[in-house]
Amino acid sequence: MLSLLADGRVNSRIANYTQFWDQDSSQDKKEHTDNRIANYTDVINGYYDGATELYEYGWGTSFHFSRFFKGEGFVQSLARHEHYLAAQMGLRPGMRVLDVGCGVGGPAREIAQFTDATIVGVNNNDFQIGRARKYTKAAGLESQVTYVKGDFMKLVEQFGEGSFDAVYAIEATVHAPNWEGIYGQILKILKPGGVFGVYEWCMTDRWDKTNPLHKSIAHGIEVGDGIPEMRTIDECRAAVKAVGFQIEHEEDLAERPDPIPWYYPLEGDISKAQTFWDYITVWRMSWSGKFVTHHALRILEAVGLVPKGTWEVGETLKTAAAALVKGGQMKLFTPMYLVIARKPASS
Ligand SMILES: C[S@@+](CC[C@H](N)C(=O)[O-])C[C@H]1O[C@@H](n2cnc3c(N)ncnc32)[C@H](O)[C@@H]1O
Repeated sequence: MLSLLADGRVNSRIANYTQFWDQDSSQDKKEHTDNRIANYTDVINGYYDGATELYEYGWGTSFHFSRFFKGEGFVQSLARHEHYLAAQMGLRPGMRVLDVGCGVGGPAREIAQFTDATIVGVNNNDFQIGRARKYTKAAGLESQVTYVKGDFMKLVEQFGEGSFDAVYAIEATVHAPNWEGIYGQILKILKPGGVFGVYEWCMTDRWDKTNPLHKSIAHGIEVGDGIPEMRTIDECRAAVKAVGFQIEHEEDLAERPDPIPWYYPLEGDISKAQTFWDYITVWRMSWSGKFVTHHALRILEAVGLVPKGTWEVGETLKTAAAALVKGGQMKLFTPMYLVIARKPASS
């Protein structure tokens, strides 16, 4: 039975989340993937109903990865990653911009302040939309940054064709049941000549789907992050082109020779913290930090302070962290495949 909480979360879909996967990756068959793709809304909302508070606790209000300079603080690096995308896209004051899969609005608020553009965030998760509005009001940005509840596979229905100067998506469109669907919707809602920028989650050219270790890493990322099916860089590029975009720039930013890898905060190695304040962020991912969170969540769930199933989603986040770090170390996975693409002016 559906039990809708006052904050927009649905108890049963959090508790049901892990049933979409076979916990043994070697047993995860095509019918499981097909089922997740067919039920992508339940998979993703179940995941984010359970994971949002954990993300905010462990990461902040921008739910994405970033590159690090030596000595650069965690929060500064997240903001720099957002500024970089905005700059690559050429976002300007006064533009109307859509943030696809906007989370709780961390990037939308930052990019709005960085560019003076007007931003609309779209998200299918009620709980996140509520939090996004609350934080945006507190930041005094509610006239410049607004939010709409909706499925990003139905953007044309929601916004109409040719309604945005620019569209960006940060680590969100990997949740789509297929890339051609979401990129095709984005093309249509852009004005002719409009720009699309994305940080996409992809398996790299080194990933071999017949290799059991590679397969288990992709599976760990799927189950741990609410992703129906991980896909490759080649599939991403092909989908962007197939729907009619002209690619202006594409690059795996994880291939840049950074001294500190993008996955370092997940490794839980406190000695790698870049600033004093980052010790706390990194500690939460360390053995002792996970131990504390694990037991605290059990108690919070038992006394009803977090919805049933949150602890189990928390466990899947650990699976995710291990798979993301392994995928990053082996360069089989990137969370920052950057594509800047333009809608032809004459289409
Ligand atoms: C990893 S989070 C990234 C959020 C945000 N871009 C950020 O960087 O903070 C992915 C987001 O995509 C949203 N999302 C996933 N599938 C969606 C869909 N079909 N329609 C709208 N939003 C969706 C999730 O609710 C979540 O907010």
